[in-house]
Amino acid sequence: MKNKKRDFISIKDLTKEEIYEIFKLAESLKAKRSANNSLSGKTLALIFQKPSNRTRVSFEVGMNQLGGNAVYLGPHEMELGVRESIRDAAKVLSRYIDGLVARTYKHQDIIDLAKSATVPVINGLSDLLHPCQGLSDLFTIKEKFKKLDSVKFVFIGDGNNVLHSLMHGAAIMGLDMTVVTPKGHGPKAEIVDEAKALSKRSGSSITLCNKPDEAIKGADIIYTDVWISMGQEQERERKIKDFNGFQVNKELLAKAKKDCVIMHCMPAHRNEEITDDVIDGPNSIVLDQAENRLHVQKAILHLLLR
Ligand code: CP
Ligand code: NVA
Repeated sequence: MKNKKRDFISIKDLTKEEIYEIFKLAESLKAKRSANNSLSGKTLALIFQKPSNRTRVSFEVGMNQLGGNAVYLGPHEMELGVRESIRDAAKVLSRYIDGLVARTYKHQDIIDLAKSATVPVINGLSDLLHPCQGLSDLFTIKEKFKKLDSVKFVFIGDGNNVLHSLMHGAAIMGLDMTVVTPKGHGPKAEIVDEAKALSKRSGSSITLCNKPDEAIKGADIIYTDVWISMGQEQERERKIKDFNGFQVNKELLAKAKKDCVIMHCMPAHRNEEITDDVIDGPNSIVLDQAENRLHVQKAILHLLLR
């Protein structure tokens, strides 16, 4: 029998103390850079139903740097839930591997995998959440501002997976968050309720609004994500219309603080949700965000798989 395993499906399953523990480890892994053998002999499976650059590569490289291996299972290899049930696939994989990362369309598929797998399951993005992104972004914010408490964090864009995980994380860690979306594209009500409950405990605030100009006043950070997420391509025409006025561009930034930091989870749809001059500009920290995925995920792997 394997020992009781722990999954990483949502940031809300972590406490503030656990998040600081992950950050401490990530910081030391980042400072050392060198490989170590803490996961020697361990194998991670990556079940991906959607494309990926950052998530896939950082997990594969991360396993390698910790002395382990990774097996990538793309959309046409496993056909999760098609060739065989998720339950059967999870039980069989658990006999071969020590952990798995899943990127799915349906969030429920990740929950079902975790229920049947006897090894830790990590959410590598679903239609509801992207906790690995949210957690490493908080790490990047801490690295930049030396604190998380009371940082003024404004998200402009679509109420989707990345935003949901950022809301959980901000609420737990005490950032003051303002979420600006067009009407009808806000975050899911269940996530808003969860984040508000968590923010009460940390003493921070979560505010929702529809006016980018007003929201960005006093912001330390402006964050955006694509308007058309993977799997939403058929909504493109309608969304482009609905998001008119929500682009992060020079005109908008002229109304923000001079040193306001720009964040984006990437991939960016350049000149759609964010202009070239802003994402490539001096205030952008998008490449630090991308790099930190590696360090934070190594810390997560270290804690879950050892
Ligand atoms: N940000 C992120 O998860 O990127 P990928 O889709 O390339 O993995
Ligand atoms: N919201 C985006 C995030 C990509 C990392 C998507 O789901 O496509």
